[in-house]
Amino acid sequence: MHLTKKITKQFRVRFHSHPTLIVRAPGRVNLIGEHTDYNDGFVLPMAINRSTWIALCPRDDEKVITYSLNRSERVKFSLQKKLNHRGVRWGEYIKGMTWALQNAEYELKGWNGFIGGDIPIGAGLSSSAALELATAKAFSEVSGFEWDGTEIAKLAQQAENKWIGLSCGIMDQLISAIGVENHALLIDCRSLETQAIPLPPDTTIVVLDTTKRRGLVTSAYNERRLQCEAAAKLFDVPALRDVSLEEFETKVHQLDELTARRAKHVITENARTLQAVEAMKNSDAKTLGQLMNESHDSLRDDFEVTVDELNIMVDCARKQEGCYGAKMTGGGFGGCAIALVQANVARQFAKNMAACYRISTGLIPKTYLCRATNGAEVVNYPPA
Ligand code: GLA
Repeated sequence: MHLTKKITKQFRVRFHSHPTLIVRAPGRVNLIGEHTDYNDGFVLPMAINRSTWIALCPRDDEKVITYSLNRSERVKFSLQKKLNHRGVRWGEYIKGMTWALQNAEYELKGWNGFIGGDIPIGAGLSSSAALELATAKAFSEVSGFEWDGTEIAKLAQQAENKWIGLSCGIMDQLISAIGVENHALLIDCRSLETQAIPLPPDTTIVVLDTTKRRGLVTSAYNERRLQCEAAAKLFDVPALRDVSLEEFETKVHQLDELTARRAKHVITENARTLQAVEAMKNSDAKTLGQLMNESHDSLRDDFEVTVDELNIMVDCARKQEGCYGAKMTGGGFGGCAIALVQANVARQFAKNMAACYRISTGLIPKTYLCRATNGAEVVNYPPA
């Protein structure tokens, strides 16, 4: 049974009424441009066909009540009382989004919701951004405010930064809000201008989940961001986006060794991302794959956000026939890698990958062939 049917059914069980609509917000992979978003740089993510769905119905009062397929607890709060951090973890993303919308003076109305999703949690595919954006979409539908995907994504990022405490950039929330079917999106994280770019013909992105879940990521992630900001100060610029490779090379001897490596990753990664866009425009899968390989190596050696499982997965992928390139995707420290693969061998590739990774680690990976979808949207009105 499709998840939208399941959540519709469960909604009826819990609320003894029918949901009036279903909203969806997708997870994402990032083709290239890792840890560049909070440096005002370039990223190239695509929204994927794994999502968070909410079946919902407006309420007559100011309450929000939600259940989830994957959890037994309920999340319930009032829009007229000060929100607090008590309650279950998944509820924090819903409350955080609500808090950010209210802070921006959106008039919100109450709703009942039942949530389901198929984005693995904590796997680096942005399940939290998807939950935030699905929540925002639900509010927009029941409260009747206009949906400006970029503005809402900025608020979702605030929820993440200030309510959850992760100093993430804008990428995950923005792609979940405004993804474009069959395209990756080049995002300039300073101007927030975007350009939709299709994958090279006859290629597929395969998601390779190490099943190694991220541990204490928040502190390591926030630390990387601080290191980048410190590096930008040393170059006397607002963000590392403003440092060219030439400038970096002239000044590198003035930086300590660690700061130099962190900065080098970001500066070279921005350049690679723009080269990747050119490669895609030229339908050049080979060059795109090579750039993805270089991105991973830089994340492993200079930015140091990979773990053994990710490196093994990527090594396995690069050995397989039909693989143009592979890298970790998202924040790192566990989670998923992606590979750019010849479409006609993608299934065989996924099979071979599972075997290679299992032999090397003893872990059983998950693999998904994915396609690019639209960002947050109303999917349908469920049958009564
Ligand atoms: C996480 C963050 C993003 C981005 C990536 C790394 O997914 O949420 O903002 O920094 O890591 O590219």
